[in-house]
Amino acid sequence: MPRLITISNRLPISVKVVNENFVYTTSVGGLATGLSSTDAVKENFWVGWPGSTIDSQKEQTDLKEKLNQDNMQPVFLTDHEYENFYEGFSNKTIWPLFHYFTQYTIYKKSFWEYYKKVNQLYCDEVKKIAQPGDIFWVHDYQLMLLPGMLREVFPDATIGFFLHIPFPSYEIFRTLPWRKEILLGILGADLVGFHTYDYMRHFLSAATRIMDFNHHLGRINLPNRVVEVDSFPMGIDYDKFANAVYEKATIKEIIELRQQLGKNKIILSVDRLDYSKGILERILAFERFLGKYPEYQEQVTLLVILVPSRAGVEQYAHLKEQIDEAVGRINGKYNTLRWTPIFYFYRGLPFHTLAAIYYMSDVALITPLRDGMNLIAKEYIASKTDQTGVLILSEMAGAAKELTEAIHVNPNDMHDIVRAIHKALTMPQQEQISRNAAMQQTLKRYNVKRWSEVFMERLGEARQATEKVK
Ligand code: G6P
Repeated sequence: MPRLITISNRLPISVKVVNENFVYTTSVGGLATGLSSTDAVKENFWVGWPGSTIDSQKEQTDLKEKLNQDNMQPVFLTDHEYENFYEGFSNKTIWPLFHYFTQYTIYKKSFWEYYKKVNQLYCDEVKKIAQPGDIFWVHDYQLMLLPGMLREVFPDATIGFFLHIPFPSYEIFRTLPWRKEILLGILGADLVGFHTYDYMRHFLSAATRIMDFNHHLGRINLPNRVVEVDSFPMGIDYDKFANAVYEKATIKEIIELRQQLGKNKIILSVDRLDYSKGILERILAFERFLGKYPEYQEQVTLLVILVPSRAGVEQYAHLKEQIDEAVGRINGKYNTLRWTPIFYFYRGLPFHTLAAIYYMSDVALITPLRDGMNLIAKEYIASKTDQTGVLILSEMAGAAKELTEAIHVNPNDMHDIVRAIHKALTMPQQEQISRNAAMQQTLKRYNVKRWSEVFMERLGEARQATEKVK
């Protein structure tokens, strides 16, 4: 059985140096769990950035040795590389552009130069550990040149690429000065995967119109290679969320949170702090809801959890200020001695606290303006073991394609969100149960393990198709 080399911007753990010691935080991300549990490969080796800048040569060597023992290969970035590659091209060019925020997109040559340089760094690290027969699986928008770079070094290797964010329509993508290089980079893979059929369609259309590469049913025939393009909606570790509610640590959290929040209905809003998530719009919709339906005052609490993210990028810092201001204003306007309308946390939460909050929330209000998938929506549904609760989900999230029994809203339409909140709070319990039961079925079946297995299966087939045409 082959080895799988997973390459993503971040390793599944983050490492910090505190008082000359390494401090590790394990990632609870779906990708880490999904890949560690797949049976399709003998062993999984992971290449990625350890999450902080480590400059000392000695610390780099020590850390590398430690991580190698756990099948991880770190890619170290300097402050300059972090600023221009991570904050720069990845998060000031590609992230806003691919989420349709053209007004935030910066097209800057030096960002691009660093993007190429750092993708090459990842390629060099892969070269150091690669063995014949290894399968490479490259992840996400930070590494779109890497499949092409790997193809140069390993012409016959099996290479997969998966994009975790939307691929925008051709009209948006064409504005990128380096559009050809990005397409060619991705097309170094044998199989290119997206969360939804629409992203796949946009990619194929860009390949046809920009590169003149035609496709038949998602297969692009290059001169001596075949590239397959398809959609693979990512799942979650369903059992982990469904079982969490029976664990002691979760039950303890539920009891404590109930004491704090009283008997009020809870509407949950949880995201990384990101302008693509529609957080401010959602908070303003809640304010409108309280004004339009005053009978819900003192009856319902909006619980906003913001996980800090990319604070060095201007728009993120600015959004934080706007949210702080809105929450303060709304609480000032409506709160009473026994009620605070919005509870607000700006930090990441431990797994059991999050599981408790999912379980207790009567409504999850997930209204991104654009979102590749949105796994939080899926986690919420999996955590509702008694099958009550209502998911309000933006139609702009990839997850909306699968979670068809949720209440779908247009996140730009405040009235639509207000109507949805009212509908959710008045939905009969039997209807909640039948909607959630249907969604749970889907999520249970197509969990993250299944997702990675299906991708790996298709990757093998795509490679065979190339072997045939060679
Ligand atoms: C999105 C991206 C991931 C990224 C994550 C967290 O989900 O698709 O690639 O890791 O956000 O963002 P960060 O910039 O902290 O890695």
